[in-house]
Amino acid sequence: MEQFSLFDAPVQNGHKKEEARAAWLRRELERHNRLYHQLDAPEITDEAYDALYRELVELEEKFPGLRTLDCPTRRVGGSVLPYLETRPHRERMYGLDNVFSAEEWEAFVQKASRALPEAGSDVMSAWWADPKLDGLACELTYENGVMVQALTRGDGEVGEVVTEAMRTVRNLPLRLDGSGPFPRRIEIRGEVLMFRREFEELNRRQAELGQKSFANPRNAAAGSLRQLDTNVTAQRKLRFLAYSLGEVDAPGMQPWQSHAALMDSLKRWGFDTPPDGKLCRSAEEARAYYEHLEAVRDDLPFEIDGVVYKLDDREAQAALGFTARAPRFAVAWKFTSRKAETRLKKIAVQVGRTGVLTPVAELEPVSLGGVMVSRATLHNEDEIRRLDLRENDIVIIQRAGDVIPDVLGPVLEKRPEGLAPFEFPHVCPVCGSPARRLEGEAAWRCLNMACPAVIMRSIVHFVSKAGLDVDGVGAKWVEALIEAGRVKSPADLFTVTKEELMSYERMGEVSAGNFVAALDKARENATLTRFIAALGIRQVGEQTARTLAERYHDMDELESAGAEELMQLPDIGPEVAGSIRAFFETESNRELLERFRALGLWPHGGKTEEKGGALAGKKVLFTGTLSRPRDEYRRQAEAAGATVVSGVSKTLDYLVVGENPGSKLDKARNLGITVLDEQGFLELIHTGSRGE
Ligand code: IVH
Repeated sequence: MEQFSLFDAPVQNGHKKEEARAAWLRRELERHNRLYHQLDAPEITDEAYDALYRELVELEEKFPGLRTLDCPTRRVGGSVLPYLETRPHRERMYGLDNVFSAEEWEAFVQKASRALPEAGSDVMSAWWADPKLDGLACELTYENGVMVQALTRGDGEVGEVVTEAMRTVRNLPLRLDGSGPFPRRIEIRGEVLMFRREFEELNRRQAELGQKSFANPRNAAAGSLRQLDTNVTAQRKLRFLAYSLGEVDAPGMQPWQSHAALMDSLKRWGFDTPPDGKLCRSAEEARAYYEHLEAVRDDLPFEIDGVVYKLDDREAQAALGFTARAPRFAVAWKFTSRKAETRLKKIAVQVGRTGVLTPVAELEPVSLGGVMVSRATLHNEDEIRRLDLRENDIVIIQRAGDVIPDVLGPVLEKRPEGLAPFEFPHVCPVCGSPARRLEGEAAWRCLNMACPAVIMRSIVHFVSKAGLDVDGVGAKWVEALIEAGRVKSPADLFTVTKEELMSYERMGEVSAGNFVAALDKARENATLTRFIAALGIRQVGEQTARTLAERYHDMDELESAGAEELMQLPDIGPEVAGSIRAFFETESNRELLERFRALGLWPHGGKTEEKGGALAGKKVLFTGTLSRPRDEYRRQAEAAGATVVSGVSKTLDYLVVGENPGSKLDKARNLGITVLDEQGFLELIHTGSRGE
């Protein structure tokens, strides 16, 4: 997997001088990197930094043997991965239980004390407290001081391998600071975050490019880290704050006695840690700390959603252990969500892809937890009626985590006189045709198939991530083409030329070329699954699209399937089957399909459908006595896209071992191949299929 040698691997031809120079450059660059990104105290100019950096790049190009896993030159990203590999955690990454009041927090402490009666009250009243960071948890593995792997938390058992992406995160050490000795192997856990400022900047850029904005910094951080193209991650300015450990293998080294001492070591090794972390020695201190953090919360550069308390004594931590869900020695005391008052200027009604009319509150802009808010979701007519919301009401809004808040209700004492109750429109606000509220549904719908809003949303959906996933075709441009009357159906998009695009304001030659090329590529590479999902057939999402694509060869075959036949397929009931039939029975849809066929967008599925499973393209070998028939496992592996092989070789991806595995295990270990037990294998398949 890693193409480069470890830091202490011999350099070819004994270029001792260059080797020493490269090592010095690496250390210097990392030191300046840290001064700049972590301490805000640069010692040299950007130009001087660039000169050192270029020197290292040139040295490494000349003598590839000099490259190491901890090279700052790896921080810029570079490779594009075909997919994110998953790997089990050696130690499960647990979540945390929550408490919501001082009483609940004290009850938690008492329960822990009862569970460990032999621990003195000193031990049980000393808790390390730090902010609960609202990002995504990640685990970094360091071998002899060098970072060799990064895994996301995933489901706690199995995470995604994000080693290269994490190397681009500037505030973490690629090699631990100091002269050691370092543990042979240590897993450092922490949170990957995007600062608010960077989040807002990113969303501004996304909007400019006509791409979807992120709901909150957490989603933005997750989306940026789980990129296949690590160049993108490198541009996203993520940070890592370290707060705990996974497995440690450090023969001969003293284990940490307290969490406070561990935090000291982490800092000395060059990690940033959650700010303001503090040892609290009594319930009063713990409560005061909570109040302090709640008060400074909005001044922090990133989002936090509570305080995490960890029993300081590490031996007592180990003695308390874990419940099925969470540690017994740590807990999160969550903040209540933030609320604000503002004026509801207008209740606007938007029309979605399926014609659903969605009310949206347009608000007098107000700052809520450091984010300016000017819109809120209102869900549907019943919700507006339940809250008795009226235009021009003063309302209370609440933001739980997302940028878009909820409206809790009007402040009746402040209601201006003469406000009329809100009348939900019974006609479509875009095309003016009658809207209907179907029986059993909360939503009003515009039933006009030709409604411009419905058409616009369907076309945007066609190329979106949920559809063909055409990278680089932003909603903004699709909308502009529709507004100009150039695109009336998703098929029209494929006929737009570069020259035409360039006649639009702010569309340059490069962007226009990319736009056309992206569509061409999507047309050639479309799978039947993506194509079906893109068509936006009611009730047919990605999962159903996959089921259909696995069963049918192409759209002709799907068209000829009757409802009864469709209902034989997994998870397809009468409603879904009816909706598929209705799609084909609509003349305009059949015409659209014919246009796609003529354009060469006609993917084939069935046996030829590429397997998008968790183990796509992977080689798996089973060995030892398994608890279930081997054939069953083989079928599962193949269904997840893997090939089952019979011998251990370098190209093997996973060895799954049962009881008494024998020599294959040794051989696989020697080759550094990932070894899984049955549970690990099942989880790998499970998470992969869920992760889609
Ligand atoms: S310590 C055994 N400290 O919150 C305790 N976790 O909702 C290990 N989290 O997945 C975790 N901020 O990853 C710890 N200051 C902090 C944290 C923190 C956020 C995460 C943690 C967990 C999640 C639980």
